[in-house]
Amino acid sequence: MKRVIFNWKMNGNKNLLNEMIHHYQKQGEKYGVSCSACLPSVYLTTGMDMNCSNVHIGAQDVFWLNSGAYTGSISAEMLKDVGVTLCLIGHSERRGRISGDVDPNILEANQDSSETVALKYHALLERSIEAIICVGETAEENRSGNTERVLEDQLASIIEVVVNNSVSKVTVAYEPVWAIGTGNTCSVEDAELRCAFINHLIKERVAKNQVQVEVLYGGSVSGSNVREYFAQKSIDGVLVGGASFKPEDVTVILEAASGCVVK
Ligand code: PGA
Repeated sequence: MKRVIFNWKMNGNKNLLNEMIHHYQKQGEKYGVSCSACLPSVYLTTGMDMNCSNVHIGAQDVFWLNSGAYTGSISAEMLKDVGVTLCLIGHSERRGRISGDVDPNILEANQDSSETVALKYHALLERSIEAIICVGETAEENRSGNTERVLEDQLASIIEVVVNNSVSKVTVAYEPVWAIGTGNTCSVEDAELRCAFINHLIKERVAKNQVQVEVLYGGSVSGSNVREYFAQKSIDGVLVGGASFKPEDVTVILEAASGCVVK
């Protein structure tokens, strides 16, 4: 069974939450799969209070310290306190590698670096909250043939945390920035290649392969392309943005995750 994580980003309201989380649950029950939904922080407890056993509620970001004068931030301790079990970190939209209506220059003060992502990772590990570590190259980095170097740079500080803390399982989402929210999907061949690269890189750097590595693909995943990604050996699941709110896509994605054949 492949893994499915829905990333809501800054979308939704109570009505949509109610509709979609119950849809995830119903389809999850039908196909015998569970999924995760990473919600805007104001809706985390609303999502959890729905008690949908096939839907794990996750956060989209965290600050690395426990408490203090960090206006607007949320700590791993707080996530733990309300019962959140997983959290995205290092999403390109938090690294300031963003496309769309926002000028990246004005995001600078709020940007994640590989170092802050590693600090966040460590904070989550300490609270036993699963981290989904997002990495990916921009269109320019891809065009100039630097994808693997970028992935290595983004993962170096993460691997250090894995080694220093004897982490037994690590989950990475490979999300090429140019494929996020654009409909420009990464070819399955390239996605497979990059996911395999991430898997091997982490195993190679962690002594004697003593770590289980799970790699998800993200970037314009929908009902119409998900089966191709799931068919790849090194793709263990998907991180889904825009299609998270499309009931028909969600149904196909969860059915495909279960390995069921469409009738
Ligand atoms: P998308 O977003 O599916 O809308 O491309 C994926 C993500 O950013 O996690």
